[in-house]
Amino acid sequence: MAVKAIIEPVVLPVGGGKGGIGKSALTASLGLALARLERSVTVVDADLGGSDLHNFLGLDNDRPGLGEVLTAKDLSLAEVWQPALEPRFFFVPGDAMVVATANPSFQKKRKLLRAIKNLASDFVLLDLGAGTAITVMDFYLTSPVSLVVMLPERPAVLNAFNFLKNALFRALERIFRDNLATKKALASFQSRSRGPGAMKVADLIAAMEAALPGAGERAANAVQRWRPKLVLNRVRRVDDFAYARQLERWASEDLGLMVEVLGFVPEDDVVAEAAAAGRVALDLNPRAAFSRAVALLAWKISQWSGKAQAWAAHKGFAGSFERAATEFAPLFPPPGTPMPTREELLKLLRGQKA
Ligand SMILES: Nc1ncnc2c1ncn2[C@@H]1O[C@H](COP(=O)(O)OP(=O)(O)OP(=O)(O)O)[C@@H](O)[C@H]1O
Ligand SMILES: [Mg+2]
Repeated sequence: MAVKAIIEPVVLPVGGGKGGIGKSALTASLGLALARLERSVTVVDADLGGSDLHNFLGLDNDRPGLGEVLTAKDLSLAEVWQPALEPRFFFVPGDAMVVATANPSFQKKRKLLRAIKNLASDFVLLDLGAGTAITVMDFYLTSPVSLVVMLPERPAVLNAFNFLKNALFRALERIFRDNLATKKALASFQSRSRGPGAMKVADLIAAMEAALPGAGERAANAVQRWRPKLVLNRVRRVDDFAYARQLERWASEDLGLMVEVLGFVPEDDVVAEAAAAGRVALDLNPRAAFSRAVALLAWKISQWSGKAQAWAAHKGFAGSFERAATEFAPLFPPPGTPMPTREELLKLLRGQKA
């Protein structure tokens, strides 16, 4: 069914290191918002061992998905790729119906990730599992652009930072897997304590160069081509924004990573109400603060349709924190605002161009 894509889709893994931070809730509504902005979207439940994206989409868990693709010899990704909900929206279920697929071999993963990049969609969102297991990291590293979801709490910033740090080490480990000296240099940095202040990427790059001439430059390039985008979820107060600043700073100082603040998403009862009703939050109430924030994220992301490489290379996001902060307040509609019709929603989604 899925023919080879003419233009490579923008693959957007949605990670963050911790469980229960809203990766799946955001993936579901963001996917739907992108489809309503007339982009074709595939949402993939890549949470092996913990698949539950179907719940956030209000779909039954009765179709084969990644679990079957990873365990059956002759089942391709295209065969489990299914249209859902509305035009331009596609869903690939996880492994809810299969046991023990959480650690597939590197070869199987590579084949799967190649197939993901060939899906006929403008955007492919990968809803990742919690933690920093190798499979989660490998899914996360499929694309140079990715979303990091984080809650506005101090331990959450540490978690998000450690998630990025783990991903960085995994990326370098994959590049330098065949060289003993660079492997040793990497391991000596990796074994330092977690959290901020334990290392500086410049020292790591220098150690890599000392281990193998040329390795430093390759490592530096690998770090620089990687552009995580931060989504701070469940924001309650303006003070919460400070946590985004903190991650920006730590990622830049220790890891040399430029984290763009893509947006703030408010705490909103609509998420739980939608889960209880078996609906997508964006659909249940498109005017809710959560839905508006997600629509705004979708609008920003939709600009990069067909331009995966350009988005990855894009550096013009100085001031992204301030922009996201300014956009936040108008997201809250006055009490008693009626539900928009479908046409109004389209307008609402498009109107956020301005
Ligand atoms: N903006 C929000 N406002 C209110 N509740 C939210 C918001 N975002 C997420 N939640 C709630 O947080 C809980 C966890 O969300 P979700 O399952 O999407 O997290 P997750 O990161 O995918 O977790 P896991 O890693 O376990 O899959 C859900 O009960 C969801 O309803
Ligand atoms: Mg989830």
